[in-house]
Amino acid sequence: AGAAADGARGLRFAPVAPNTADAVTVPAGYEQNVVVRWGDPILRGAPAFDPDRQTAAAQAGQFGYNNDFLHLFDLRGERGRKVLVANHEYTDEVLMFRGYDAAAPTREQVEIAWAAHGLSVVVVAEDDRSGALTPVVRHRLNRRITATTPFEVTGPAAGSELLRTTADPSGRTVLGTLNNCAGGTTPWGTVLSGEENVNQYFANAASVADATTRARLARYGFTKGASDRKWERFDDRFDLVKEPNEANRFGWVVELDPMDPDAAPRKRTALGRFKHEAAQPRLDRHGRPVVYMGDDERFEYLYKFVASKPMMHGRSRAAHEHNMGLLDEGTLYVARFTGNSPAGQIDGTGTLPEDGEFDGTGEWIPLASGDHSFVEGMTAEEVYVFTRLAADKAGATKMDRPEDVEPSPRTGRVYVALTNNSNRGKAGYAAADEANPRNTNKHGQVLELMEAHDDPRARRFDWRLFLVCGDPEDPSTYFGGFDKEKVSPISCPDNVAFDPHGNLWISTDGNALGNHDGLFGVAVTGRNRGQVKQFLTVPVGAETCGPVIREDRVLVAVQHPGEVDGADAANPASAWPDGPGRMPRPAVVNVWRADGRPIGV
Ligand code: FEO
Ligand code: CA
Ligand code: CA
Ligand code: CA
Repeated sequence: AGAAADGARGLRFAPVAPNTADAVTVPAGYEQNVVVRWGDPILRGAPAFDPDRQTAAAQAGQFGYNNDFLHLFDLRGERGRKVLVANHEYTDEVLMFRGYDAAAPTREQVEIAWAAHGLSVVVVAEDDRSGALTPVVRHRLNRRITATTPFEVTGPAAGSELLRTTADPSGRTVLGTLNNCAGGTTPWGTVLSGEENVNQYFANAASVADATTRARLARYGFTKGASDRKWERFDDRFDLVKEPNEANRFGWVVELDPMDPDAAPRKRTALGRFKHEAAQPRLDRHGRPVVYMGDDERFEYLYKFVASKPMMHGRSRAAHEHNMGLLDEGTLYVARFTGNSPAGQIDGTGTLPEDGEFDGTGEWIPLASGDHSFVEGMTAEEVYVFTRLAADKAGATKMDRPEDVEPSPRTGRVYVALTNNSNRGKAGYAAADEANPRNTNKHGQVLELMEAHDDPRARRFDWRLFLVCGDPEDPSTYFGGFDKEKVSPISCPDNVAFDPHGNLWISTDGNALGNHDGLFGVAVTGRNRGQVKQFLTVPVGAETCGPVIREDRVLVAVQHPGEVDGADAANPASAWPDGPGRMPRPAVVNVWRADGRPIGV
């Protein structure tokens, strides 16, 4: 009870102990339900989930696989209902199909996988007597977007020769979205979702004849012969020898309006192309959006996009159309971080420098704005499509896997999850620096960025590490200056979100401390700043994604339960959520307080 009471408002719960239970474990006094899982029907005509008789047509009307980003929208005019948006990052065929032969997937299996990618929109209903949420099947807003849904390409690289293919000579219509990782929501009511590790779907990059094309592909990790999933056998666009530009049509931020089920989702080229983890806007004082974005790979960069025009308020058609163009015009920047302690004091162990903090200053380096390139030797179109190459030339700082980025709605400070970097400091790789202070960084850090004059459009910023993660008994860890005897261990921060009280919540992926991943809350201001408290843990093999922290409930996406080396659909490593003898199923979990009071007060 003491531990529960001593948290900041919104974080007054008894922390969950680290564990390896095959369950979602929540604090005492909290309840949970599984809202929707892989295969649950959401569209008209979709059958109940039957893993042994699964079809692509069924999957296209059912909730997809490996839910990651989540958001819960209010639904005007329908009491007790909300709109849940989830994305579906990738498929794990070994866990989806009993007897799966990776060397010879069937067309049906491949088409099921296409249909299990993308996004889901599903209306959910609140229970009258508890905090439970259940899907409203066949609601008119329910929607599936898959690896074959047409997307409109917008912004300065739309129509570029670099985006044209045999099937789409216009370079303006792409079929599908892939590897949607985390995301964000806009003040104008849409969802942003990041296309991340899209290289894995494409074959034969090394056999592409043109050396420039091959080098560009390699910079994005397209290096394989056959792809893992063998999609190239069923659709030529996944064979880079036949369609080298198809690769350039993935790796974007996509925008979806969940309230307009007939509108094509968009790929926003002005936000650049890389392994987008997420995208979260804030508005400057004139209402102009600024979007923060991480490129999640070891030694990649942090970016921001500064829109030219302010958002229009109100619910008119004109306002909606205006706002749907906001992310097409503006300037794309990449970050350079400079430490303020002598380099000799950053020894790669995580020992604090003499000034007592990992901190310093930074600048945002412009890459392109509209059709103007700031990068020598690259056109603006090349900057947008090959943003990593532009950032290399600009001298950006190589970070420890920039994942989700979230500006605090209260303070304007921006929090960057840097999840880990096993190669930091190894021979041939960049050594530790003040922003990435540990070599062979297993546990990651959370960086706090303060824009100059608290202006999101600023070209300069200050920064400091807020958390250096790991076991608090490990001397290389740092918890915002808080007493390390009173915090939960945390490893591999991935997604970040704010609660209504201004606390930061962090979900983890890849806990390197021997326990399962989980969800943590931490105050960022006041006397509890740095007091990390664990709120839940996830089952065997799973990662914790998509946290949504509302006053009355917490939602998490439990991604890839049972994904353990050697496990398969016939010999699952997890019995979650359906129990022994059933396949593990990625699912959305909803947590509320049994006494009906707000979370953590
Ligand atoms: Fe899909 Fe960076 O996690
Ligand atoms: Ca992630
Ligand atoms: Ca310092
Ligand atoms: Ca992840």
